[in-house]
Amino acid sequence: MLCLTLTGATLEEDFAQYERNKAWIKLVELRIDLLDPAELEKASAFPDRLDLPVILTCRRISDGGRCDLPERQRLGLLKHVASGNFSYVDIEDDVKKSEFENDLHARGIKIIRSFHDCEGMPADIYSRLSRMAAKGDIPKIAVTPKTFMDVIALFRIEQELADVPEKIVIGMGEMGVPTRILYKRTGSFMTFCSDSLSSSGAPGHLTARTMSELYRADQVDKQTHIYGIIGNPVMHTSSPMIHNPGFHAIRFNAIYVPFLVDSVRSFFKLAESMCIYGFSVTIPHKQDVLPYLGRITREVKQIGSCNTVVRIQNMWKGINTDYYGFLAPIQRDVEQGMIHTALVIGAGGAARAVVWALHNHNIKVIIVNRSIEKAKALADETMGSYDVLSNVGLYQGQVDLVVQTTSVGMEPDVDSDPAPGFQFTGHEIVYDLVYKPHETKFLGRAKAAGCRVQYGIDMLLQQGKLQFEAFTGYHYPPKVYIDLSN
Ligand code: ATR
Repeated sequence: MLCLTLTGATLEEDFAQYERNKAWIKLVELRIDLLDPAELEKASAFPDRLDLPVILTCRRISDGGRCDLPERQRLGLLKHVASGNFSYVDIEDDVKKSEFENDLHARGIKIIRSFHDCEGMPADIYSRLSRMAAKGDIPKIAVTPKTFMDVIALFRIEQELADVPEKIVIGMGEMGVPTRILYKRTGSFMTFCSDSLSSSGAPGHLTARTMSELYRADQVDKQTHIYGIIGNPVMHTSSPMIHNPGFHAIRFNAIYVPFLVDSVRSFFKLAESMCIYGFSVTIPHKQDVLPYLGRITREVKQIGSCNTVVRIQNMWKGINTDYYGFLAPIQRDVEQGMIHTALVIGAGGAARAVVWALHNHNIKVIIVNRSIEKAKALADETMGSYDVLSNVGLYQGQVDLVVQTTSVGMEPDVDSDPAPGFQFTGHEIVYDLVYKPHETKFLGRAKAAGCRVQYGIDMLLQQGKLQFEAFTGYHYPPKVYIDLSN
């Protein structure tokens, strides 16, 4: 079940949040600690306005909330508001049992017995959860994983506490995101999400719409194949917007989740224990995964980096779809021999895939880079030529293809141009790997000069579709609407 945490300062704002999100959620949490004091008198009547069950919560500052009342007053307020038609009341684990709880039980209101740690994760979460469950209520732990091993510990709750049927497990912060999306795989029966137009209720909250429409988190079951992307940072990734709608379109019971990973070794442990079927790899792990792979393709060996890992007959195989994703939009030009010489701007990780792809197709490559050593190293490997970026003007009119692989011109740096001195003749194909913004300043200049331009988004989509094929064995379905703004 998806629960929307209402974060308004007034009950009207909370009601508006409920109205905007009700199609995606099964219940709401009214956070009276976030309400203006003047609203509190009317809060007990709030559940009567809604068609969904409501959780009542008054979160303390020490637990990540805003209530700064002395404890007796806070509990008094909770008791007062709880006179309304709430389905659940959240009471912290350290609050002594009282008549109030007996009264709630007598009225058929369930108690969520909660424990929060906004700084980290205690070592004893399993015994803590067991103890909380033994009190007869619904135990909830909301903790902040600090390492990927903590994330593994949260996913293990499903097996460790299989005898506790109703429990809530929340990993807060960015590292906890997979535990929220795959909440069912932690054994949790609900998870919390927020309204897209409001500031989020807790760190790591995803919106109700994203949880429901993009991830279909409620539909994960025992058969669901899990895929994902590992990186650090990783939350900006567009890949879930490619893979999840693709799975849905071919009715493939699978989900693709972002994993913020500090240790590749830990992630492989999780991948084994959760039987993850494949994953994308982004910065800074594209080289780190290599020692764990049983098989790699020629391209991975040449480029020295792997952006896709798939499970094949109990072995991990590494491939590099950046290589083919880059080539796909210019495949016909390459096959027809239209490109003899290419100028590649940059000599980083992305440039390595580009230069090797061009070299393997007998295209002469000139690499220009800010630091000459990197350009030389890549040129030596691929038998190309190299120069320093400031000399880029020397090559104007000499090449059929220009590929821009640096991050210059990428949002928010949209006014920058990596090679302002380079004049286009109008005959080159100009390809920029940057996809945000859609058209960089560099590409805009090329277009104005009459060049055919190739957008970075095409490579992003192509490499993603090739990953999809590697993951599922099916072609990426046509006519899928990919909304990268999600
Ligand atoms: P990626 O994997 O995206 O290619 P990378 O390996 O860090 O990332 O490589 C970044 C590339 O962008 C490098 O070629 C880098 O040039 P240096 O090798 O001289 O660092 C280039 N780059 C980044 N910022 C740049 C800038 N402001 N001007 C010119 N080149 C830049």
